[in-house]
Amino acid sequence: SQVELGGFPHFMLKEIFEQPETIRNAMRGRLDKDSATAVFGGLNLEPRQLRSIDRMILTACGTSWHAALVGEYIIEEFARLPVEVEYASELRYRNPPMSPLTLLLAITQSGETIDTLAALREMKRKGHRSLAICNVVGSTIAREADGGVYLHAGPEIGVASTKAFTSQCVVLAMLALHLGRLRHLSYEAGLRIIDELEALPEAVEKALETNDIARRVAGQFSGCDNFLYLGRQFNFPTALEGALKLKEISYIHAEGYPAAEMKHGPIALVDEHTPSVFIVPQGAVYDKVLANMEEIRARGGPVIAIVDEQDERASEIADEVIRVPAVADYLQPIVTAIPLQLLAYHIAVLRGCDVDKPRNLAKSVTVE
Ligand code: AGP
Repeated sequence: SQVELGGFPHFMLKEIFEQPETIRNAMRGRLDKDSATAVFGGLNLEPRQLRSIDRMILTACGTSWHAALVGEYIIEEFARLPVEVEYASELRYRNPPMSPLTLLLAITQSGETIDTLAALREMKRKGHRSLAICNVVGSTIAREADGGVYLHAGPEIGVASTKAFTSQCVVLAMLALHLGRLRHLSYEAGLRIIDELEALPEAVEKALETNDIARRVAGQFSGCDNFLYLGRQFNFPTALEGALKLKEISYIHAEGYPAAEMKHGPIALVDEHTPSVFIVPQGAVYDKVLANMEEIRARGGPVIAIVDEQDERASEIADEVIRVPAVADYLQPIVTAIPLQLLAYHIAVLRGCDVDKPRNLAKSVTVE
């Protein structure tokens, strides 16, 4: 209804704009400066048990699987734990060798996705401990996992997941901090991470100011039939997520790739009608991604770049630039996801698509 939409034309746009608040809600009461760690009420695992984990399997579907990829990079960095990300639909039928000390972490907005539930049950059957990151309180997966963390993002109505994704990334960063502080991570590093997390909602607020430019860029490219989304390291999962958002709601073919993989095949797709969206905030791989951008430009492909406020070099190469605030590298997927969500939204609206209820899709997939 109009009341629920709060003046927004679609739930998706409303939920995109809720993100500074939903991210605050994900962090509320969970960052403890005295011990320089994140605290959770419902893990149901002793510190001793968490320290003895030898490996983590992160499992999910769709957008939640993209959040899992972000989580893999963060957990490896903060906690130095081996992490693997598995599509739930694959994990449930695989039988990978695992020690009893391998922990399963299921990630799901709805808590009802059948493949994620089946993967959880299969891993529990084999004696593994399990955690879940869910949004919907009391959902099946939230109840069946041994412990877990809620997003507290409020109901997500748009079929295209937006606020759940950014909150999943935030919770994964906090979980990585928690695990890291039980292992190698110093007090000082823990405090720095807390500061970075606390600065995030404001950065996301600023990232929402890209709405006008995202609409303008959408107008320029909404007639294209193919898009590429490219990023590296922490921004590779964001590339996948940007491509999925566009596919889901605008029905435009889009592919996400790690930028350097282009040369191994997909670059053959590049022509003047195939825009590449580069996610290229400054960081360890910045120069490398710039080189990848040049390769696309050399083949006549239009380049849209998501860059930092202070960026100079990527902006020189790209045809269109969307600027977001600079944040710590592991938080870049959250801040850069915002203009990607907005870009997909405006393109879909311009093409007359049903943004909140795209064809062929259900909000949660409860049949195999
Ligand atoms: C995202 O925009 C999707 N519609 C879809 O990929 C979704 O993320 C997936 O079905 C998983 O849902 P869940 O998080 O509720 O388990």
